[in-house]
Amino acid sequence: MARSRAAWRRWFLRWEAQQESFNPLREARFSAMLDVLQARLPSRFTALDLGCGPGALSLRLLQRFPRARCVAVDHDPVVLRVGEGAWGSFGGRLRWVDADLGRPGWADALPFRRCDAALSTTALHWLDGRALPRFYRELARALRRGAVFLNGDRLPWGRDDPELARLAERVRKVRFRGVRLDREWSAWKAWWDAAERDPELGKLFPERVRRHSQHPQHGDEPLSAHLRGLRRAGFARADVVWRDLENAILLARR
Ligand SMILES: C[S@@+](CC[C@H](N)C(=O)[O-])C[C@H]1O[C@@H](n2cnc3c(N)ncnc32)[C@H](O)[C@@H]1O
Repeated sequence: MARSRAAWRRWFLRWEAQQESFNPLREARFSAMLDVLQARLPSRFTALDLGCGPGALSLRLLQRFPRARCVAVDHDPVVLRVGEGAWGSFGGRLRWVDADLGRPGWADALPFRRCDAALSTTALHWLDGRALPRFYRELARALRRGAVFLNGDRLPWGRDDPELARLAERVRKVRFRGVRLDREWSAWKAWWDAAERDPELGKLFPERVRRHSQHPQHGDEPLSAHLRGLRRAGFARADVVWRDLENAILLARR
């Protein structure tokens, strides 16, 4: 028997909890991104959610903007299954796309050309120094002129400013110590362990492992690499519009 929407939504809610456990400002960051969209776009628009996971950002966007439509893109079969199971097409306004943002040509897999907005949360840190500039060139193809790009992620100072990078790391330890330093990643791991044991999701793991084996580890490119990639891809304006140390939202205009 097919699994119910309610059962898939329980998987989704557990995803939300594990993401929140290492990013307590996650909800505030989502809200700030959607505030920018509301200020910049008319009520009817098409947005991309890049590295969507099971659709946390897509869901919030579609709930807040009832005339918008969204394309959710990821290349992990497990999170795509949870997202599609939990939200389906959201009344015809949500499309799910299986595509690798680290490879050339991903924009060809999109169902719409020249979208009005592209958003991403906690995902683009996966792209390394080779893939990131290519990703931004591809993104420029997917968006119309004047479109909005918003990336909420850890955007490290890294080698650009080692002093601030050290400060950010110390503050992170201060915040998590005694609260959940040892649990910072444990909720994330517990979710994936449970997914692997689940009969339906477990079937997707060989493909997941195969895809992940083709990828480098986190690129964790510094903020400056994002700014450079955007500028070289023809984005007109890019700046940080929200931040808590290295947890930031980068806004750019196509
Ligand atoms: C930490 S999750 C965040 C998911 C979601 N945006 C959220 O905020 O809950 C990172 C997501 O990025 C996706 N991702 C990483 N590299 C990717 C790539 N090259 N192409 C497509 N998706 C990718 C992963 O599969 C994963 O679903």
